[in-house]
Amino acid sequence: MKGVILAGGLGTRLLPLTRVTNKHLLPVYDKPMIFYPIQILVNCGITDILVVTGGGNSGDFLRLLGNGKVFGLKHINYTYQEGEQGIADALRLAEHFADGQPICVVLGDNVIETNIVSAYQAFRKEGKGAHIILKEVPDPERFGVPVFDGDRIVAIEEKPKQPKSPYAVIGIYMYDATVFDKIRKLRPSARNEFEITDINNQYLAEGLLAYSTLNGWWTDAGTFESLRRATNLVAQGGANKTDVAGTI
Ligand code: G1P
Repeated sequence: MKGVILAGGLGTRLLPLTRVTNKHLLPVYDKPMIFYPIQILVNCGITDILVVTGGGNSGDFLRLLGNGKVFGLKHINYTYQEGEQGIADALRLAEHFADGQPICVVLGDNVIETNIVSAYQAFRKEGKGAHIILKEVPDPERFGVPVFDGDRIVAIEEKPKQPKSPYAVIGIYMYDATVFDKIRKLRPSARNEFEITDINNQYLAEGLLAYSTLNGWWTDAGTFESLRRATNLVAQGGANKTDVAGTI
């Protein structure tokens, strides 16, 4: 399996911090934000990694990460997103890199306490479709939210005003190679973005969307509140622990 880190976008919710740099290069306690999602992949044993960047500061990713030596990698692949049309649009750029293999996609502003090794293994066993990861949160209206019938997901709603469950779909997604055909079928959403939630709903319609639930904390870091939370959580106890089961 290959890994894809999505680290484009304008980070407008963090202006003026993002006026002269990319959101994913900002510090979360003692490391640049993008270190955390890369470590999530490396902890699964994924070593073939593509970083999708964009905007005016993309060269700084190369200066910061180089060939990924600090993660024990031999090389890192990079590509550049022109324009900012959402997560699924950025993922489109990974098709050539994926080369028909399944991928694990991690949003560049997601930080977790533990790891996703058991979800990764479950997806490998499933062999096809998609596998998403859920976490119960106090503010699901900020995220993609699953709708349940019993323990079966029947829909995912993006940023619903009235969430039908207390769970967020976190920014770590595992997909088979059909994800790129699904991206081609997408139409922009009301906020003019190609939504990752619409991809997940396509897998759901095919009966090929599995899920795990995350142990330990999860946070994004793309707003002032969540960036502060991420910094505090990492400072208090560290992230990306491998000595505990990360998902159930
Ligand atoms: C994105 C996705 C959302 C997901 C979240 C996880 O939201 O659209 O479904 O729950 O990432 O971080 P955004 O970062 O665009 O607000």
